Amino acid sequence: MKDQTLFPLYNKRGLPETPQQVSQKPGDGTQQTHPRRVYIETYGCQMNVSDSELMAGILTQSGHQTVMHIDDADVVLVNTCAIRENAETKVINRLQHLNHRKRRQPELIIGVCGCMAQHLRDRLLEAAPYVDLVMGPDAYRNLPIALDSLIRDEEAHISLTDRDPFLGLRLDKTEDYADIAPIRKDGIRAWLTIQRGCDKMCTFCIVPFVRGRERSLPLKLLVEDVEKLVDQGFKEVVLLGQTVNSYRDNGSDFGDLLFAVGEVNGLERVRFTSPHPADATDSMINAMASCPTVCKHLHLPLQSGSTTVLERMRRTYTAEEYRTLVAKLRERIPNIALSTDIIVGFCGETDEEFEQTYQMMANIRYDSAFMFKYSEREGTLAHKALPDDVPETVKGERLKQIIELQEQISADINTAAIGGTVAVLVEGESRRETEKYHGKTDGFKTAVFPKMDSKIGDVVNVRVDSTTAHTLIGQIINGHA
Ligand code: SAH
Ligand code: F3S
Repeated sequence: MKDQTLFPLYNKRGLPETPQQVSQKPGDGTQQTHPRRVYIETYGCQMNVSDSELMAGILTQSGHQTVMHIDDADVVLVNTCAIRENAETKVINRLQHLNHRKRRQPELIIGVCGCMAQHLRDRLLEAAPYVDLVMGPDAYRNLPIALDSLIRDEEAHISLTDRDPFLGLRLDKTEDYADIAPIRKDGIRAWLTIQRGCDKMCTFCIVPFVRGRERSLPLKLLVEDVEKLVDQGFKEVVLLGQTVNSYRDNGSDFGDLLFAVGEVNGLERVRFTSPHPADATDSMINAMASCPTVCKHLHLPLQSGSTTVLERMRRTYTAEEYRTLVAKLRERIPNIALSTDIIVGFCGETDEEFEQTYQMMANIRYDSAFMFKYSEREGTLAHKALPDDVPETVKGERLKQIIELQEQISADINTAAIGGTVAVLVEGESRRETEKYHGKTDGFKTAVFPKMDSKIGDVVNVRVDSTTAHTLIGQIINGHA
């Protein structure tokens, strides 16, 4: 597994179709006279998936409609990622493709939203001058206004080249979209943003610059949201934030939120991503240890196993502190599944420093890891102060080494599960074998098994009979878990 984020990406996926509401805008009683069909395409992390659901909510509230297929759309919004250079390259290629479509369909509105929009700002228009709308993560409330103004231009027959693109790039530390109801695809797992922005300022990272200051949503509202999600049929909720465990609402911290959400009637499982090691408090660990619905799985980004590299990254913990935290987690929560993020080839990384990362991964033995080559991002502290001096070939070689190590460890951990029983939340039909279901274990491993009399949304006990590289294969035993 490499170069991907914790949960599956939703590249090029449209959101669920919403009914066309040509009637009224909420609150103001005005007519939506120019309803548009909007296709939202999402790149990057699950926070972006969640933001796309929010955008669909905003657009639907104002009378527009989201569609599942690009061929049905007269607006395409590309929700982008800026975390590494290849994420941006992918989007530029996609925009070129959309430009071909626009030649055939001149009234097509193309919008670029999200982190890359905020990162490149008007420079994006140099790379893709045919883009009509550039909008950062704190400006989505303006989407209906933006569409209205672009549609007015179109109706006034202002030629494409004379039209001003709509820019919405103000970061707003008070914007939490608390009043917006996102539109989600039906399913088992729902993502819920509990915090926006990041205050940590790791030197390699663009996120604080494109998503602004950290802000948490009110605990009471989040619990109500989870109750609604359960009513809608969701069984699992994933709490999202850039440093999700630094969550604060008045006197309540992340542990309090986990307890409050975990006790919602009818909810099977709660997960969260991504916590920051420096914010892994006893309150969080207690909630994980004692609340049955909180999954015993922690994605704990290490980034590097070398204290000197961690200092240059400004991660605010040492390798030793991280090791102590892992020991404590394993003592308090036996069998906890751990996953991580690693960056190789960060500025000045020596062979010895890399070796420390390798050794730390070998010692901790994560269940899985997302591993990346350092990608310099303009505007970050590292870009300003530290040379990106590890040669590309060295970065590649180091990445290969840790991927091989991790593949072996993940395979060994899976093999050790053979003969045991795991509780699996049934998510859907296996893509390859329709007589089977797939689902996730508490530790976020994929399991595949014959359906028998189970149904989607059930939690079943599966005895593990064999494994592939990333999947447990087995049989349901004793019916429901
Ligand atoms: N807020 C999250 C991180 C978000 S980015 C957290 O603290 O865990 C997801 C991962 O991308 C990071 O953990 C890091 O491993 C990787 N990443 C971020 N910036 C990067 C860069 N400039 N080059 C390579 N990888 C990067
Ligand atoms: Fe990025 Fe560090 Fe925040 S990785 S998202 S600046 S915790």
